[in-house]
Amino acid sequence: MDKLAVYIHWPYCARICPYCDFNVYKRREDNLLLPAILADLAHWRELSGPREVSSIHFGGGTPSLMTPAQVGAVIQTVSALWGTSGIEIALEANPHEINAEDWRGYRAAGLNRLSLGVQSFHDAALRFLGRNHDGDTARAALDLAIGIFPSVSADLIFGWAGQTETNLSHDLSILIAAGAPHISTYQLTIEDGTAFAKAETRGQTRTVSSDLSADLYDQVRRTLMTSGFDHYEVSNFAKPKHRSRHNLAYWQGLDYVGVGPGAHGRITLNNTRHATVAHLTPGAYTRAVKTTGTGIASRERLTPSDAATEYLLMGLRIDEGISLTRYTELAEGPLNAAELEPLINDGLLLKQGERLSATAQGRLVLNAVTERLLLT
Ligand SMILES: C[S@@+](CC[C@H](N)C(=O)[O-])C[C@H]1O[C@@H](n2cnc3c(N)ncnc32)[C@H](O)[C@@H]1O
Ligand code: SF4
Repeated sequence: MDKLAVYIHWPYCARICPYCDFNVYKRREDNLLLPAILADLAHWRELSGPREVSSIHFGGGTPSLMTPAQVGAVIQTVSALWGTSGIEIALEANPHEINAEDWRGYRAAGLNRLSLGVQSFHDAALRFLGRNHDGDTARAALDLAIGIFPSVSADLIFGWAGQTETNLSHDLSILIAAGAPHISTYQLTIEDGTAFAKAETRGQTRTVSSDLSADLYDQVRRTLMTSGFDHYEVSNFAKPKHRSRHNLAYWQGLDYVGVGPGAHGRITLNNTRHATVAHLTPGAYTRAVKTTGTGIASRERLTPSDAATEYLLMGLRIDEGISLTRYTELAEGPLNAAELEPLINDGLLLKQGERLSATAQGRLVLNAVTERLLLT
């Protein structure tokens, strides 16, 4: 059986950013959430049986609002349930929550990777994005993280209205000079229901044009690749040995535990993949764990077609691509050969033995490529 990744969702944030549609809530006192997460983990262990765990990832929301003792309690529980030897343990932190003592406490509790939500080093951009940190704080947080954790990742958002190639170059050069070994770059997207979506309906543009956005993405790629980063996933760049093992589990189609409000999970039971979703609000989640022993709100068996489609969509995002044998097993039939050959001939896909991957050019138009592949 493949290894299992563990995702913990901590949904609270000090401030809700105007572009974010994750399952987040304004920070408040909540003494019930941690015990519920620990109990939910025990339920997941019953579901999964004995498996080896490959990673624990604290995502959010803002898990850097958790105390080192809370983070330590989760790690110890996962360790007691499945074992945690030699695994990646990562947490998403906001620069605003920078606290050297807490971060050293996380490290002492077993955390070995910090993912920092830098977004930009420009004060004006950070104000525009509604962030509660400035460029100097982001730099100080990055230096501190690099001094404490064996691996550090920084998130950057590009494509905000007013951005130029010059200020993107400035953001990238600070990250490179600081020595961040992993960088995630997200194109600003306007999500339904967010404050930015409402502003756009009032005619206030929040993003650059799609042409400029494509140029900025190309600039990110060129700059980071010439600085020794592998472009191993559409939005992710890593120096050797610093790829996110946890996120790779998603892209490789492996199983993952999802605990905490609104968390998603995938688990293979009797050779069939199942998708789980936890109760959305912290209140509903903690009540469900208390009354039923689990926070899972729904558990659905994925059809062969859904499981195979998900594997393809996730797997073509990474440089290693997918195994055609596994695709055929999941789909209970081979990939659409009539579409496959022309996409290979057009230089958008690459077939090496039984592996299929998207070329650099193919990854630029990945949605169109996967749509064609999935035509029936
Ligand atoms: C959900 S956040 C969690 C980490 C942390 N709370 C933070 O904001 O830095 C993960 C990443 O998604 C990015 N993100 C969220 N919504 C986005 C959007 N609409 N467009 C681009 N990036 C987005 C965030 O900026 C962040 O880097
Ligand atoms: S982007 Fe991060 S800090 Fe902002 S609301 Fe979303 S999860 Fe919270």
